[in-house]
Amino acid sequence: MTSAPPSPQAAMRLRELVFGAACAAAVRAAARLGVADALGDTPTSVTDLAAALDTEPRPLRRLMRALTCYGIFAETTDDRFEHTEMSRLLREDAPNSLRYISLWCTEPWTWEAWPKLDEAVRSGRNVFPDLFGKEFFDYLHSDASDSAKVFDKAMTASSRQSAHDLAEYLDLTGVDSVVDIGGGQGHVLASLLEKHPALHGTLLDLPKVVAGAEPRLQDGGAFSARARLVPGDCRVEIPVRADLYIIKNILEWDDESTRRTLANVVAAARPGARVVVVENLVDDSPSMRFTTAMDLMLLLNVGGAKHSKESMVRLMEDAGLDVEGVHLVNPYLHAFEATVRG
Ligand SMILES: C[S@@+](CC[C@H](N)C(=O)[O-])C[C@H]1O[C@@H](n2cnc3c(N)ncnc32)[C@H](O)[C@@H]1O
Repeated sequence: MTSAPPSPQAAMRLRELVFGAACAAAVRAAARLGVADALGDTPTSVTDLAAALDTEPRPLRRLMRALTCYGIFAETTDDRFEHTEMSRLLREDAPNSLRYISLWCTEPWTWEAWPKLDEAVRSGRNVFPDLFGKEFFDYLHSDASDSAKVFDKAMTASSRQSAHDLAEYLDLTGVDSVVDIGGGQGHVLASLLEKHPALHGTLLDLPKVVAGAEPRLQDGGAFSARARLVPGDCRVEIPVRADLYIIKNILEWDDESTRRTLANVVAAARPGARVVVVENLVDDSPSMRFTTAMDLMLLLNVGGAKHSKESMVRLMEDAGLDVEGVHLVNPYLHAFEATVRG
């Protein structure tokens, strides 16, 4: 133990970090109040903003001042506020908006789960069943419908860019049919059907998610003749035969669920069928702060983890898949290319 006093910078940084909840809460408050949507292209006084948002001006000023410390909004020399690159991302209409991701990462259940992180680290198990009496997705769909809506919108928002990137990445030569397992509201599938006019596709997800699938995939939608919606639990059964199975950002739950899902793919597919698993990895991420935070959140809610290249390959190989390569889809996403062993 050294007796040198800590540097003022180290002490200040640690003080700031342990108040991270205040920053997250301030972003959440701004997103819920719609501050970024109310602020236009010209700097605006807090009085005008407060009138537009129906809030008290003084606490709104304090909220704005806290956010400007992080580069979210900026204060002008004449006491008004204006957008920054980051604050614009909180607008609902921003291209690549992060409004719903910001809400999702700070939903009410997160504030009950984070204080239990030490318990989860000790036990290696998720804290959700003890806290809420049921597993995470059961809770979401039966007890927290507002949170479920935020989740679906957040996934759709983050899917939009990655769906485009994945559609660009995937070479579908020789592929007539595709299934997206745990495909959310179907953005990836819709992007693929749009790009490949002869392709047929199936979206498999939990019943309440499939019920809200994107309109182009539903009856009467632009792709309805080529799209099938299958409500179900991929850990129980995957009743779909296809040339290509896509599994994107779902195998980060507990390993047993991953084993069952991959076993169901292998049972449903013909030998030689192509399987592409798409994940963000902890051993190759452009933002380790974001990825490790997600990794801990997955431990808390579903007892899951972000994978390393090695852990993902091992689970796939154990399930009866031959992994032929791991490629970048975009800087955040890796595609594990595999075929079902013959
Ligand atoms: C993190 S989201 C990823 C969604 C989509 N694949 C994407 O990349 O945008 C996880 C998805 O898995 C779905 N899911 C969770 N449990 C499932 C289950 N047992 N069977 C099928 N889908 C499930 C969720 O409803 C959600 O749509």
